[in-house]
Amino acid sequence: MLRLPSIFLALCWHILSVTSAAVSQNSRTQCQFSGTHCPSGTILVSATDSRADYTTIQSAINSLPNDTSSHTILILSGTYKEQLNVTRPGPLTLLGQTNSPHDAAQNTVTITWAAANLDSTGQSVDNVYSSVLIVSPTLDASLTGSGTTGFAVPDDTPFGNKDFRAYNIDFTNTWAEYSDGPAHALSFSRANGGFYYCGFYSYQDTVYIGKLGNAYFYKSTLAGETDFLYGFGTAWIQSSDVLLRGCGGGITAWKGTNTTFENKYGVYIVDSTVKAANSSIAPDIKGSCALGRPWNSEHRSIFADSYEDGSIDASGYINWVISGVGRYEQGITLMAEYKTYGPGFNATGRRVGNVTTVLDKKGYAPYSEPKKVFQNQKGVFGDVSWIDWETVSA
Ligand SMILES: *[C@@H]1O[C@H](CO)[C@@H](O)[C@H](O)[C@H]1NC(C)=O
Ligand SMILES: *[C@@H]1O[C@H](CO)[C@@H](O)[C@H](O)[C@H]1NC(C)=O
Ligand SMILES: *[C@@H]1O[C@H](CO)[C@@H](O)[C@H](O)[C@H]1NC(C)=O
Ligand SMILES: *[C@@H]1O[C@H](CO)[C@@H](O)[C@H](O)[C@H]1NC(C)=O
Ligand SMILES: *[C@@H]1O[C@H](CO)[C@@H](O)[C@H](O)[C@H]1NC(C)=O
Ligand SMILES: *[C@@H]1O[C@H](CO)[C@@H](O)[C@H](O)[C@H]1NC(C)=O
Repeated sequence: MLRLPSIFLALCWHILSVTSAAVSQNSRTQCQFSGTHCPSGTILVSATDSRADYTTIQSAINSLPNDTSSHTILILSGTYKEQLNVTRPGPLTLLGQTNSPHDAAQNTVTITWAAANLDSTGQSVDNVYSSVLIVSPTLDASLTGSGTTGFAVPDDTPFGNKDFRAYNIDFTNTWAEYSDGPAHALSFSRANGGFYYCGFYSYQDTVYIGKLGNAYFYKSTLAGETDFLYGFGTAWIQSSDVLLRGCGGGITAWKGTNTTFENKYGVYIVDSTVKAANSSIAPDIKGSCALGRPWNSEHRSIFADSYEDGSIDASGYINWVISGVGRYEQGITLMAEYKTYGPGFNATGRRVGNVTTVLDKKGYAPYSEPKKVFQNQKGVFGDVSWIDWETVSA
C-alpha cells in the first residue's frame, strides 16, 4: 500500500501554469513531496495508486507529443521494471517522489532493467539494448558501434532532447553482480540533460554518453566496476559519489573524435568522492582500481578537486594495450588529475606509471567550468542553459 502524505489527496496539477522546463526549486520539491505546485499538465505515474494517469513510465513518455513542448512526469514511490526510451526534442523532466529531495541515498523511485551485451565484439548486438534509460533521437544515434570511431551516425540525424532533467531517481541494471559484458544504466546521445540526486548502478559500462551527448550529474551516485563512465560525448560529474564495486579496466574509458573545430569531449569528475562501494569490498580492491584507460588515443578525462580512497592504483590511469600496442599517445591522450587528494593519490606512482597527467592551475584552466567544456553540435562553447543552476547553486 502506497503511503502518500495526506496533502497528496488534493492533487492540483492545473493551478500553476509553467511553460518551460525551468520550474523553481521550491515548486519542484513540493511537487515531489506532496504533489502540489507541480507544473500544469504534470503526468502522474504509479503502479499501484488509482489516481495515476499511467502505471508505467514509458506509457507516460509515449503519450507525449513528438514536438518542442515542455512536459513533466511525476513518478510515485516504487520499483518500476522497465526500459525507458526518450526520443522527443521538447524539454522533459522526470521527478521521483521523495521526502528528501537533497539526498540521493533516500530515493524511493527505482527503475530497473536486467540486460547485458554478451557479444564481446559489439558488432552484431549493440550495447544500447542493455540500457535502463535511453535518451537519443533515433536508434542510429544511440548505437555505440565498434572500432576507433564507433557507429557512423547519418549526417541528417536531428538533435534530440534539448533539455532533459531527472531528479531523485535510481537507474539500476540488475543483470549481474559482477562485470558480465556491457550493461548500461544510461545511454545518452545527441541530447542535453541534467541528473540531480540520481543513482546509476551496474557493473560494466554503467553510464554511456554517446556522440553529441551533453550530460551533467549533480549530487548523484555512479557505481560500477569496469569502464563504467564511458563514451564519446561530454559528461560533467559534480559533487557526486563514484563508487567502486570492483576493479576492471578503468573507471573512465573515453573515445575522442577528430572534429573540424576544437572539442573538449570527455568526462570531468569535480568536487566528488571516488571510493570503494562499501567496507567489505575495500580491502579486496586496495590499490588496484585505475582512474581510466584510453578507449582510443583521444581519450580525455580529468578528476579535479576530488577525494580518492585507497582503492586507486598507484599509477592513477593505465594504458590500454591491444596486441602489444598501447593506445596512449603522448600529447594526444589526456588522462589527468587536478588537485585530487586522499590515500588514492600517489605522486611517485603517477610519475612511474607515466600515463597520468597531473595538471597545474594553468593546465586545468581550459576545463575548469561546465561552460568551458559543453558545446553545441557546431562546436560553440557555453552550451549550459539546460543545467538547473538554481538547484546547483543552492
Ligand atoms: C519525431 O519527429 C521528427 C521530425 O518530424 C521525425 O523525424 C521523427 O521520426 C519523429 N520521431 C518519432 C519517434 O516518431
Ligand atoms: C527507441 O525508440 C525509437 C522510436 O520509437 C526506436 O526507433 C528505437 O529503436 C528505440 N531504441 C531502442 C534501443 O529500442
Ligand atoms: C559491497 O559491494 C559489493 C560490490 O558491489 C557487493 O557485492 C557486496 O554485496 C556489498 N557488500 C555489502 C555488505 O553491502
Ligand atoms: C585523430 O587525429 C590524431 C592526430 O592526427 C590521430 O593520431 C588519430 O588517429 C585520429 N583519430 C581518429 C579516430 O581518426
Ligand atoms: C614515458 O612515456 C613516453 C612515451 O609516452 C616515453 O617517451 C618516455 O621515455 C617514458 N618515460 C619513462 C621514464 O618511461
Ligand atoms: C606509491 O607508488 C610507488 C611507485 O609505484 C610505490 O613504490 C609506493 O609503494 C606507493 N606508495 C603507496 C603508499 O602506496
